[in-house]
Amino acid sequence: MQFDGKVALVTGGGSGIGLAVARAITAQGGSVYITGRRQTELEKAAAEIGTQVFPIQGDVTRLDDLDRVYAQIEEKHGKLDTLIVNAGVAPFAKLEDVSEEHYDSIFNLNARATLFTVQKALPLMSAGGTIVLIGSVADAIGTPGYGAYNASKAAMRSFARTWANELAESGIRVNVVSPGPTETPMMAAASSEVRATLKSLIPLGRVGRPEEVAAATCFLASDQSSFIAGAELCVDGGMTQV
Ligand SMILES: NC(=O)c1ccc[n+]([C@@H]2O[C@H](COP(=O)([O-])OP(=O)(O)OC[C@H]3O[C@@H](n4cnc5c(N)ncnc54)[C@H](OP(=O)(O)O)[C@@H]3O)[C@@H](O)[C@H]2O)c1
Repeated sequence: MQFDGKVALVTGGGSGIGLAVARAITAQGGSVYITGRRQTELEKAAAEIGTQVFPIQGDVTRLDDLDRVYAQIEEKHGKLDTLIVNAGVAPFAKLEDVSEEHYDSIFNLNARATLFTVQKALPLMSAGGTIVLIGSVADAIGTPGYGAYNASKAAMRSFARTWANELAESGIRVNVVSPGPTETPMMAAASSEVRATLKSLIPLGRVGRPEEVAAATCFLASDQSSFIAGAELCVDGGMTQV
């Protein structure tokens, strides 16, 4: 019960990896806020998880939504121990097809909203707090058709290095979990050709499960990783490691 008495926020906690992380934290005694744009998805997730889960509808690219989410956490629990920055998008476009809208939508969420989600959490966090950014192995490879996504995940990896330094004096640790291809709605939205190509690159011969990413995330979010900061833990079946 390593999250006993702890309060966590998982952005994009209504589906996929975020849902698995929220489930894992509550299973280990924590209280978890989940946020996302779709109210029905959040309510479905909350009903499935059961107790100690608090859905708050919100778009993390909107700073007033972030303020509202943190105000509700402050009012109910008065603190935040763990922040999981998970909300992300990965639309496909080859370089010649990248539009302003494509680029902006990816960087607005994966990079800009990541920064403000963390910045606005800080007043609720104190020594012993943990922040885990859900990055991607995409930060280190050049999968065709995902140039803007790959670069936005590299930005997240860079943020974690700086923030691990900046927040160390407050006793807050920042780390990154980088999944490889994982069976979620995001993965299901990719073409069968892209999915087959990605799968063929994984030494373990299969895509990951959200629960496997959640286990690594809980490790970095808990005291079990108390001497780990600024690190990236790849959960990718060896895809970028061998
Ligand atoms: N699946 C993979 O193969 C894979 C691999 C590497 C990294 N990742 C990363 O893992 C994270 C989770 O992705 P997933 O695979 O679990 O996909 P997913 O099921 O599509 O989850 C994405 C979540 O983000 C939420 N979201 C999107 N835009 C948002 C916004 N503006 N404000 C608040 N929430 C927002 C979505 O909810 P709403 O639509 O309701 O807002 C959804 O719950 C992402 O950061 C992704 O880049 C995934």
